[in-house]
Amino acid sequence: MAQGIVSVAYIGATIMFILALGGLSRPETSRRGNYYGMLGMLMALLATIIGIVSNNYFVLFAGVIVGGTIGLVLAKKVAMTQMPELVAILHSLVGLAAVLVGFANFMDHTTVLTGVDKTIHDVETYLGILIGALTFSGSIIAFLKLSARIGGKPVLLPARHWFNLALLLGAIWLGAKFINQSAVGGGTLPLVLMTLIALVFGVHMVMAIGGADMPVVVSMLNSYSGWAAAATGFMLNNDLLIVVGALVGSSGAILSYIMCRAMNRKFLAVIAGGFGTSGGTTLAGPEEEAGDIIAIDSTEAAELLLDAKEVMIIPGYGMAVAQAQHIVHEITRKLREKKINVRFGIHPVAGRMPGHMNVLLAEAKVPYDIVFELDEINEDFANVDVSVVIGANDIVNPAALEVPDSPIAGMPVLECWKGRTTIVLKRSMATGYAGVANPLFYKENTRMLFGDARESLEAVLKNLV
Ligand code: TAP
Repeated sequence: MAQGIVSVAYIGATIMFILALGGLSRPETSRRGNYYGMLGMLMALLATIIGIVSNNYFVLFAGVIVGGTIGLVLAKKVAMTQMPELVAILHSLVGLAAVLVGFANFMDHTTVLTGVDKTIHDVETYLGILIGALTFSGSIIAFLKLSARIGGKPVLLPARHWFNLALLLGAIWLGAKFINQSAVGGGTLPLVLMTLIALVFGVHMVMAIGGADMPVVVSMLNSYSGWAAAATGFMLNNDLLIVVGALVGSSGAILSYIMCRAMNRKFLAVIAGGFGTSGGTTLAGPEEEAGDIIAIDSTEAAELLLDAKEVMIIPGYGMAVAQAQHIVHEITRKLREKKINVRFGIHPVAGRMPGHMNVLLAEAKVPYDIVFELDEINEDFANVDVSVVIGANDIVNPAALEVPDSPIAGMPVLECWKGRTTIVLKRSMATGYAGVANPLFYKENTRMLFGDARESLEAVLKNLV
């Protein structure tokens, strides 16, 4: 009876998670998607606590209370700009859980398995620990990179591909040893050695990936954490964990594919690492002289906007830093009242996490129907009178199209310079995340409005009369 209720609750939770993913695919339905996800998680938790756990309730509730409190405090405290690093560190916990469950499973001899069952169980344990360990160490490096605790530049060891191949072959060889030895009651040494190899591989893989490829790393680790959860589900014989892990794993894989397409990169090339460093001529510091710039003040910016019929706003990471989304919406409203057509152009890797700009604009209640993806509006810039680039840099860098040896060569960018005038809001001439100098700032039709984006926009709004 209890088992039947658990199965029904698990099926219900699975449906909720699928609805959640469906909802999250569009800004209009994303809030609903989140509610479905929360409901699914509640159903899963209740079914597991009431229907599956039968003893050790004290340990369980102590864990839930301690873990839940840490999660709540972190989620309340974390700034929107720190979200990507929080997500990375949470992925590392999923990996760590898979490793711990794997070792606990290996050491637990309460159920005695033999023959094929034993081999299947050993393979599950081995793969679970392997995926978990590389997710754990890779996510920690991603966390350190995203939070700028270590530099974003790829660390490229000589013969790194051979090194990776040696690690892979080592893991396969140790896997065979583990299964043979485990059949006669051993296997600890190969399992521990493989765990070390997987940890080293995770560190090496993410260290070798350059700043410009970090969006793919974030989604790739998201996918790995899903597969690690699915592997844990196999080890614990928990169908829901298998299904949910597979959902996260495959949606993360699809997101990685979308990110690669957005950046015009091949997934294998990303894994091979090195992108974002070529050492080409465009990797320049802020002080590099590349021509004259034209700086304007907020009054001139407001005049340009009032003169326009078509305005395109391009938000980037700096809008998130300045928390300028609300004032951006105010300006949008004001301009629309004056019959000026305002649209938003969103680059797929703007900000520091997938959908970063959409989340901020939704928070500020910018109408969805004036927010467009790069593919939808990149051809329209010829008709745009004023583009307003708010704290964006790499995503509007013409070097991606014009400089073949640029570290970001080939990445599609929002081609705002094809419009009549571009106003760039930023605080200095500093480069963006990829560390690449931006020729846009020196173009004849570009105007630089220096300062914190929110303060600059507040001043512009005052002048929009
Ligand atoms: P960036 O290229 O990082 O440029 C952001 C710009 O904002 C900086 O040049 C900075 O210049 C300016 N800025 C910072 N704080 C500001 C403030 N308070 N007011 C005004 N300006 C401010 O951002 P982007 O154009 O959005 O491109 C995203 C980059 O991040 C890409 O390289 C992408 O590959 C990478 N990335 C993306 C993701 C995802 S999934 N989206 C994940 C990891 C990495 P100043 O310092 O001069 O103000």
